[in-house]
Amino acid sequence: MIVFCVFLVLCYDLVQAQFPRVCVTEEALKSNSCCPLWKDRSPCGSSSGRGICRPQIVPVFGEFGKVPQYNDDRLNWPKYYFSNACECFGNYSGYGCGDCKYGHFGEKCDRKITIVRKEIRELSLLERKRFFSYLALAKITKSPDFVILYTGDRHHKDTYRFVDAAIYDVFSWIHYYSTKPILRNGTFDYSTNYAHQGPAFPGWHRLGLLFLERQIQLLTGDENFALPYWDWRGEKKCSICTNDFLGDNDVEGFLSRYSHFAFWKSICSGYNYVDSYCLAADDFNQLQILHRKPGANPHAQSPPTFQDVEDTLKFKHFDTYPYNRNAKHSFRNALEGFLNPSDGMDLHKTTMHNLMHNFLGGTMSEVPISSNDPMFILHHCFIDKIYEKWLHKYNASSDVYPENDQPGQGPNECATPYFPCYTNKQLLQKSDAFGYKYSIYQGL
Ligand SMILES: *[C@@H]1O[C@H](CO)[C@@H](O)[C@H](O)[C@H]1NC(C)=O
Ligand SMILES: *[C@@H]1O[C@H](CO)[C@@H](O)[C@H](O)[C@H]1NC(C)=O
Repeated sequence: MIVFCVFLVLCYDLVQAQFPRVCVTEEALKSNSCCPLWKDRSPCGSSSGRGICRPQIVPVFGEFGKVPQYNDDRLNWPKYYFSNACECFGNYSGYGCGDCKYGHFGEKCDRKITIVRKEIRELSLLERKRFFSYLALAKITKSPDFVILYTGDRHHKDTYRFVDAAIYDVFSWIHYYSTKPILRNGTFDYSTNYAHQGPAFPGWHRLGLLFLERQIQLLTGDENFALPYWDWRGEKKCSICTNDFLGDNDVEGFLSRYSHFAFWKSICSGYNYVDSYCLAADDFNQLQILHRKPGANPHAQSPPTFQDVEDTLKFKHFDTYPYNRNAKHSFRNALEGFLNPSDGMDLHKTTMHNLMHNFLGGTMSEVPISSNDPMFILHHCFIDKIYEKWLHKYNASSDVYPENDQPGQGPNECATPYFPCYTNKQLLQKSDAFGYKYSIYQGL
């Protein structure tokens, strides 16, 4: 089985997302260009009409290093690393235009598939077992297409070192890298990052899930594979924290040795990143393997309720000024969990998405490493389902994505650090554009 799948992996020269292996050669880095040759030997498959190699037009925060208060390598993504990259036409996509846009398949990318993401308890026994074995495979299979950045100093290119990582760990690392505080006037500003505390939050996570889902489809050859979600509304404790599902844990938070993820290591701590590259790795050494303590946090003893979700869906404004964790009457801020959904005013209550992270505790409650626990996938798919409900309820589209001052979160900035570029506002559209939808479960 494993030999067969590894063979499949090597067969695919497609794929998207970031630090493409072929673009981190000394030569590519020096030329600041990520325009790999497609099968037809032309950059970005241009001879076959798939795409074109062109300068990255990123209009927002000025040139790297020229705006004195912000000097962060991720700003104006991916310009700091690559000033030229592929722009793909039609349904083509991927860093080299060798792949298709999400939801499209085939050599010409003209075959559309819409998959259905189901609640994990709706899966048949076979589907559930398949999900766990695909994850296991993604955790041990080296990513054929991507490498991760491993260096003590993001701001000195000559210190960069790129290393191999497993497919699941590339996914974890993308989240980790986006959550690093942003360097501002030479100090880290912990109130901003690229994936949270701003209007990019729902779309950024949507893209991360699509990335992982597609990587697993490519790894296994199973084009119909869909990530499951966990509808946690109204739970008193964690009903899927059993060894048949996500795993039981002991009082110290160690997962049962008979559970699927008992021996999974977190990428930041496990791979010995220097502190500046993995916030909290030193302080949370015990988190090198996954931990979970559902309900143990006295401020987060149970998940959000049915009413909380209903209330969150009442906000018709996608986001509101000042577009950060202080936004009131904002769907995004209520969904993210800084705003009390019952009144749309109270900013002191931890709710919804944030509450769930805290409720689960352990690895999930440490933002930079939370994505190492597959619970992250199930939780964020449900957050994404609520986002999808909102998009339908208000028939919303890209034009309601607001201009704002959050670095990396402008409507026309690329969701950071994905590759190729999806702008933040592009990610504000209904999921059928990305080839998936959600099952109806418990009336939602
Ligand atoms: C950063 O420093 C510049 C010049 O010293 C100053 O004008 C600016 O207000 C500072 N920005 C922040 C966010 O502190
Ligand atoms: C893109 O895919 C759609 C199917 O979703 C197809 O109808 C359309 O013709 C394709 N576009 C191009 C330019 O190939």
